Amino acid sequence: MIKMIHMLFILLSVGSFVSRMMLVQFKPDLLRGKIAKIAPHVIDTILLLSGITLVLQGNWMAGETGWIMTKVVVLFAYVGFGVMAMRSSGAKRWIAFVLALASFGYIISVAVTKHGFI
Ligand code: HEM
Repeated sequence: MIKMIHMLFILLSVGSFVSRMMLVQFKPDLLRGKIAKIAPHVIDTILLLSGITLVLQGNWMAGETGWIMTKVVVLFAYVGFGVMAMRSSGAKRWIAFVLALASFGYIISVAVTKHGFI
């Protein structure tokens, strides 16, 4: 059940990030509403909380924890590059966007293989 929530919020997180990128580039006015401002924080908080719940539920801290630490560290990179992409412009925006998506993809590969760099 929690894993399904984790999966759902993974999709919502990347979906809302890509949508916000398109809006900030092409229709920035639409991002001024309250929901557009709050929703990403709610989604990413639930994603993080569902991850922490999975760690506790699966007793993952008892074994090899490097992959979990890697996920958390790269999650910060994903959020950081995401914020940079939203706030900058021109080439810098798109480089940060690609780096955010690459971080996201790497987190998925770490989750599946249970091997990180830590
Ligand atoms: C962008 C953020 C994240 C993405 C894209 C992501 C992705 C995934 C994916 C794809 C799986 C399924 C792996 C599989 O079934 O083979 C998974 C499972 C899991 N994730 Fe995440 N995750 C994210 C954040 C987190 C965070 C922050 C934590 C911990 C604090 C976490 C902890 C876990 C745990 C413990 C599992 C369960 C592994 C299992 O039952 O096999 N995740 N994650």
